Amino acid sequence: MTTANPSRWTLVIHGGSGSMRRGVLPEAEDAGGRAGLKAALDAGAAILSAHGSALDAVEAAVRILEDDPLFNAGRGSVFTAEGRIECDAAIMDGATLDAGAVAGVRTTRNPITLARAVMEQSPHVFLAGAGADGFARAHDIEAAEPEWFETPERRRQLEEILARPDGAFDSGMKYGTVGAVAVDMDGHIAAATSTGGLTGKKWGRVGDSPLIGAGTYADDRACAVSCTGSGEYFIRLGLAHEITARVRLAGESIEEASDELIHELGEMGGKGGVIVVSADGSGGWAFNTPGMYRGMATHDAPPEIAIYDDE
Ligand code: GLY
Repeated sequence: MTTANPSRWTLVIHGGSGSMRRGVLPEAEDAGGRAGLKAALDAGAAILSAHGSALDAVEAAVRILEDDPLFNAGRGSVFTAEGRIECDAAIMDGATLDAGAVAGVRTTRNPITLARAVMEQSPHVFLAGAGADGFARAHDIEAAEPEWFETPERRRQLEEILARPDGAFDSGMKYGTVGAVAVDMDGHIAAATSTGGLTGKKWGRVGDSPLIGAGTYADDRACAVSCTGSGEYFIRLGLAHEITARVRLAGESIEEASDELIHELGEMGGKGGVIVVSADGSGGWAFNTPGMYRGMATHDAPPEIAIYDDE
């Protein structure tokens, strides 16, 4: 079921959830985060307001966030324990249930564009590692040297984690994944998610973001979902698909389904958030962390950007 409306569209984006608190988050990160979200919203909104597709809009918004070194995706991704950067991304078209995903990408500037190429130009859904980067080169998708992704702040964060006696992940960390969900004027929806994963990740660890149904899902019959947070919990809940299934099969609103799944995530010990749009044009988010970089733009309201839970 689609609900085409020649003037209606909605775009929701996130730049990660985590421990961001008002007055504690450095002013530069607050202002820089809002500016980055605004640029991503503007890019997606320009496409949707010109009757472009939800798929084009979510890719465009995520590309902006991948190129922004403040966010943990593409340039500015976190380092693995070995001091490398390995990016994951996924995209899904709610009209067809077509999907593409990549994991452990090291030399492709915009992993989300590579995920889309996997969806549209290969018979597969999910490519990993050097093979995924090789697919990008074979399909003329822009390359970048590994050093292009690196920033001094992410290097400092890795050194901080490696200096801990147990080398443990920080439970108060920012899960800086980025994502976008949109519904276009034709009533089609799409979801896109991109991340560097967790600082200090080892052993080829892959989180929820590139896993279709865990961190990313879209179905025109219900809604589109992109997640951010402690990926292992999102994987175990099949969280993005679970929200979609509740909306489609149980008749829950996107608010009810999102709030319930974030509650279940918290009960298990997981932290993070989701952004959602429904095929009827409504959009929103839910999260259980002190903050989540997020924004929404629609055909009939000024763009809304927020970081803290009291906004
Ligand atoms: N949610 C991103 C990750 O766990 O990698």
